[in-house]
Amino acid sequence: MQSSSITTSWNIDKILDDLNESGFALIDHLYSSEYISALVQECSSHLEQFRAAGVQNGVVSHIRSDHILWIDGQLPVAQQHIQFLQDLSQILNQAFYLGIKEVEAHFACYQAGEFYALHRDNAQKKNDRMISTVFYLHENWQEEFGGQLRLQDKNEHWHIIEPLPNRLAIFQSDLLHEVLLSNHQRLSITAWLRSSDSIWK
Ligand code: OGA
Ligand code: MN
Repeated sequence: MQSSSITTSWNIDKILDDLNESGFALIDHLYSSEYISALVQECSSHLEQFRAAGVQNGVVSHIRSDHILWIDGQLPVAQQHIQFLQDLSQILNQAFYLGIKEVEAHFACYQAGEFYALHRDNAQKKNDRMISTVFYLHENWQEEFGGQLRLQDKNEHWHIIEPLPNRLAIFQSDLLHEVLLSNHQRLSITAWLRSSDSIWK
């Protein structure tokens, strides 16, 4: 947690308590406004390279209609967010013995009318995703834009989470969740903290 782009207005003990008790946690006001501006710029300037997330190997799924771009070394600003998540992974490993070894991440863009239906990121522990994170990077958001993250916590209580700018949602990858229909362009980075560095087991 050394990076100068990170603000210090949040408390790691509260995050760990929330994850322990309900399986999810929120961090608001994570980064400086300078970093957010650079991130929006990097995301927006690559929008034409985003691909339909619901299409894989030519097979179309109707569960989601957003577009994504996987983050690699060509996206240095987003890489700083991945570095932050790697540091966070060390803390989560110490607290919960999760064995996280790798972070994989993509930008996501939901245009007006787009959604991601109810799903789990790691149903029946089929992959190595331990923790899911979503960082919201659009510069302003209003309730009437929709696009909320609706999530069932580990005690089976439902939560509606507004995709507020500069907010990071952190949750166990086995929890049920969805992105409600968005009425406005919604920009984010989804990242998974994985327990193995092999994508295919
Ligand atoms: C996902 C996802 C939630 C969100 O990308 O798997 O569930 O709020 N995202 O964007
Ligand atoms: Mn998901």
